Amino acid sequence: MKNRVEVLHGANLDLLGSRDPEHYGTLTLSELEVQIKRYAAELGLETKFFQTNSEGEYIEHLHRLPEIADAALVNAGAWTHYSYAIRDALELTGVPAVEVHLSDVTAREDWRRRSVFEGIVVGAVSGQGPEGYREALELLKGELER
Ligand code: DQA
Repeated sequence: MKNRVEVLHGANLDLLGSRDPEHYGTLTLSELEVQIKRYAAELGLETKFFQTNSEGEYIEHLHRLPEIADAALVNAGAWTHYSYAIRDALELTGVPAVEVHLSDVTAREDWRRRSVFEGIVVGAVSGQGPEGYREALELLKGELER
């Protein structure tokens, strides 16, 4: 079975743990990754992690995705709301992707309500903190089993 999930974190997510805990909780990125790995293992999925603050590097990593992963879990941070270049790159991968946000992007500033990934991801989860990654992984598993 295809089970390799690449988890791609974008701009500023390396600073989790020191960002506003009301929106993002208190876990650091490494702690969140441990949690995600645990959720994934429970579902029989293998996870690898990538984070960058550079949009170009994020795009180049997406270019490599078809060779290294069967599915993608994407939290692109603020790029979610405006980067058509990342949208195009994600679409080009051809692998199923789910978008996830720790905070509730529908209940914050207007500009966060919009996601450029709409229409190309198989699902989006927001506002559930680290638990949201479990739901996102479940969605991906369902997609990989189809
Ligand atoms: C985020 C939400 C984005 O609007 C924000 O720019 C982030 C994190 C989240 O996980 O809630 O950096 O993607």
